[in-house]
Amino acid sequence: MTDYEQAVKALIEAKKIVVSTGAGISQESGIPTYRDGLTGLWAGHNPQYLETANAFRENPQLVWGWYLWRRQQVARAKPNAGHIALHQMATLGRKVSIITQNIDDLHEKAGSKEVLHLHGSLATPQCFACHRPAVLAADNVQVTDFGALIEPPRCKKCNGKLRPGVVWYGEELPKGAWKTAMSLIKDCDVLVSVGTSGIVTPASDLPDIAFGLYKTVIHVNTIDQGVGEHELNEISLVGKATEVLTRLYSMMSKEVQTQ
Ligand code: APR
Ligand code: ZN
Repeated sequence: MTDYEQAVKALIEAKKIVVSTGAGISQESGIPTYRDGLTGLWAGHNPQYLETANAFRENPQLVWGWYLWRRQQVARAKPNAGHIALHQMATLGRKVSIITQNIDDLHEKAGSKEVLHLHGSLATPQCFACHRPAVLAADNVQVTDFGALIEPPRCKKCNGKLRPGVVWYGEELPKGAWKTAMSLIKDCDVLVSVGTSGIVTPASDLPDIAFGLYKTVIHVNTIDQGVGEHELNEISLVGKATEVLTRLYSMMSKEVQTQ
């Protein structure tokens, strides 16, 4: 049985599928991953520095400019065949829940309903001082790919600087997010982990938690993430998310039709 056949067998036998996605699933929509080198004004800065409250304190215009550029990139981006295949899988009679580290809305744009954002979202800025959520007026400045230093807007309530509504290094996940993620993993039959380098905890712990509960884990990545000591219930499908997920969906839908 090939890896794909093994993966489709597990997905067809599953009642509940959890898909954990990272930046790799949005890469083919033109959204750079975190391990791609930063460009323009942000070149030479490490995302692991820019994604901190400290960086925002030290250089609010650089950090706000970076997130505004990313917001504008995401606004222009379209969901790709990988996002769409995950939405289509949910139409085959199995429950498909998505846990994403991504701060874009491409899963939602593809039609997926059950999307849990572990690291927040570009769409929900908040006040750095009083933490109140804020609504951004339409962007009155287009940030070019080279980037720009942009003064963060101010909170209407306390005049504090607005910050992106994302989880920075060292910060807590959104309230209840991890609890929800844990119950999804506990209830599922298969975890599909797509386009993540598995560096940032606690998201990177999801596959091991799934193994600990005797679930099947399918990795989808352009890099072979290998199969560790869990060879019985771990499958590594190497390739682009658009190609691998589309192939999985089409094999699943053929199977479902013959049932
Ligand atoms: N298809 C599948 N996988 C891909 C593709 C693709 N087209 N392109 C890249 N990848 C893989 C890379 O091989 C890498 O393993 O996607 C992964 C992207 O890894 P990261 O850039 O580290 O993204 P991610 O794992 O989501 O980062 C996690 O780090 O900086 C923080 O908060 C940020 O949520 C982010 C977290
Ligand atoms: Zn405020």
